[in-house]
Amino acid sequence: RHFLTDTDLSPTELLEVLDLAAELKADPGTQVPFAGPGAAASDAARKTVAVIFDKTSTRTRVSFAAGIAALGGSPLIINPGEAQLGHKESIADTAQVMSRMVSMIVWRTYAQVGLEEMAANSSVPVINALSDDYHPCQLLADLLTIREHRPTDAPGGLAGTTLAYFGDGANNMANSYLLAGANAGMHVRIAAPDSHQPAAAIVQRAQALAVETGGSIEITDDAAVAATGADVLVTDTWVSMGQDAEGRGGADSPFMPYQVNAALLDVAAEGALVMHCLPAYRGQEITAEVIDGPQSVVFDEAENRLHAQMGLMAWLEARG
Ligand code: CP
Ligand code: NVA
Repeated sequence: RHFLTDTDLSPTELLEVLDLAAELKADPGTQVPFAGPGAAASDAARKTVAVIFDKTSTRTRVSFAAGIAALGGSPLIINPGEAQLGHKESIADTAQVMSRMVSMIVWRTYAQVGLEEMAANSSVPVINALSDDYHPCQLLADLLTIREHRPTDAPGGLAGTTLAYFGDGANNMANSYLLAGANAGMHVRIAAPDSHQPAAAIVQRAQALAVETGGSIEITDDAAVAATGADVLVTDTWVSMGQDAEGRGGADSPFMPYQVNAALLDVAAEGALVMHCLPAYRGQEITAEVIDGPQSVVFDEAENRLHAQMGLMAWLEARG
């Protein structure tokens, strides 16, 4: 099994992973999946997990390193430019070599098609640690955070939540909110300028999924419409890694009307959560007042990267 995009887990499997994450968060000593059944974390049966970065990272790097160690494994962090991959060696050859030496491959890269090629040639699970198209590990952490702070009465605690995302509607985070939100039965609203709305294919996939789960999808260019009555307001950088910053930042940015600020929070549901995957640019996509204010859960969200990915890796390991 691989985890390349948000819909690689079915709605039921998504809740299994989140439940396992919550269990591990409550009692990290209960399981050491990489060391084998009944083994202590210090056993010689430790397994190595390769974590490859083609882009920079703080949360993903630290949460995978700490989470792999906590599960009884050994993280092997490969920084941008350190491997032959991308310079001298094909993705397919790299996948075959690594599969013989590690128990999982975690990869942050540019093109989604590269992850697909890695998975097609790997005999061990491949996990997407962010690509240009999706950030599914971040969504596991976000969903865990939402149900901790604002659970609904639905089984799993997520279905029926209204989440509104503001800013670059065509980036990896927007795509993952659409797919993972629909998977969880949530009502997902995307507010973005006409020039940066989500691709029709992603919207269609999310809509089809929402029909099955009881969720819904709404795309708008009106930030106030998206924010009104929403349970969660979320945004992301206006300039994703690998993009040219020109024309995106500053006061005359096309994204400025989508800034998450006090006026937007005012029209959201009472006690609405404010989220951001981080790193954040205060004064651009979100004001300091809001991200550092009482409704913000961004640091719980960041911490939950650790627990969510431990849940994911333990779930994948148990699937064999
Ligand atoms: N949110 C997130 O993925 O952060 P990093 O880029 O620091 O890993
Ligand atoms: N959209 C951002 C997310 C960073 C975690 C990027 O790709 O740079």
